[in-house]
Amino acid sequence: MAKTPNSFPQACPCATSSAARGNIRRVERSANKQLTEERERLVSGAPVEDDSSFELKLRPQRLAEFIGQGKVKENLAVAIEAARSRGEAMDHVLLYGPPGLGKTTLANIIANELGVYFQPTAAPLLQIKGDVTAILTNLQAKQVLFIDEVHRLQPVLEELLYSALEDYKLDIMIGQGPSARTHTLEIQPFTFIGATTRAGLLSSPLRSRFGIVLRLEFYTPEDLRVIVERSAEILGVEVDPAGAIEIARRSRGTPRIANRLLRRVRDYAQVRCAGRIDEPTAQAALKLLEVDKYGFDEVDRRLLLTIIEKYSGGPVGVNTLAAALAEEPDAIEEIYEPFLMQAGFLSRTPRGRVATQMAYDYFGIKPNARQSSLF
Ligand SMILES: Nc1ncnc2c1ncn2[C@@H]1O[C@H](COP(=O)(O)OP(=O)(O)O)[C@@H](O)[C@H]1O
Ligand SMILES: [Mg+2]
Repeated sequence: MAKTPNSFPQACPCATSSAARGNIRRVERSANKQLTEERERLVSGAPVEDDSSFELKLRPQRLAEFIGQGKVKENLAVAIEAARSRGEAMDHVLLYGPPGLGKTTLANIIANELGVYFQPTAAPLLQIKGDVTAILTNLQAKQVLFIDEVHRLQPVLEELLYSALEDYKLDIMIGQGPSARTHTLEIQPFTFIGATTRAGLLSSPLRSRFGIVLRLEFYTPEDLRVIVERSAEILGVEVDPAGAIEIARRSRGTPRIANRLLRRVRDYAQVRCAGRIDEPTAQAALKLLEVDKYGFDEVDRRLLLTIIEKYSGGPVGVNTLAAALAEEPDAIEEIYEPFLMQAGFLSRTPRGRVATQMAYDYFGIKPNARQSSLF
């Protein structure tokens, strides 16, 4: 591809290039491998194998199509507008929050709105210095470089990025031994977007190089209803507002789960109810899928019950809990806990996790006096 200054042959304001789409798929697949146990789980925020082709279809391309996250959108709209009017690369952006809330989507949208090339990759795919050097030296002016799971970047690769992010320079070593010299290469100004589910694991030098740090929140059922309706329209499924809100309420505040449940409910509706999704159809389908009215599945129930029954309501440390459930502590912190805490079923104390009154009520178990005093 010819590289001429100030022209973006691959940039298309309303669609990502097919190469970039392939990359997104690869990135998502690599994320999948990390979460193999997740594959079976219908209400997981992490992508599962058959999500990718649907997600591409359903992924909003413009900021205006991106539903909810008002504060995040407003911040981005200002930054995008400012960068465009100055004709400069936009400030680097860190997007963080639980899986499935729209980090990859937003990175994509930022590139679309800026009208620049979008290059996605993921930290686990970058293994040696050469990987990073190759990407940085091939940057097109003002393009977006998106690194998913940026907290998993190896320290040596991270260091290589620092000067690139700060003043668009790259230090490389030429030769070996006593004759080795460092050489500084100028690289094109670019916008770096990092996404992570674990902002706390980011090193502070890396974190400090992001000019814009945005945290994605769980969505309200109302926002998710709009997302379900939008997706239903794209998929050509008929859904009424009551049916949509039923799916929305059980989606754990997560658009990826909402879209996945919609697809499963659509199947049910097609086979049993002439294809139309209304409230009774949605309820029956979700009952069959064993997703309850809070969007909890077996793992959530097991986690809460373990705390209540084995550890008399907590506090229990996350490692102990992980061992009792035969899960990874990381998976608990990253995937299960955030929603349970947000929904008010679990709280995190300095001494460990505690099941709340709501958790007891959910199972119809009466907390004893000691436990009540913890609430
Ligand atoms: N605000 C939103 N509006 C509409 N759809 C959304 C929104 N956020 C996410 N989605 C949908 O959820 C899916 C997962 O989003 P993604 O950006 O891949 O999440 P993350 O990268 O945070 O794990 C996307 O395919 C998209 O269809
Ligand atoms: Mg993603």
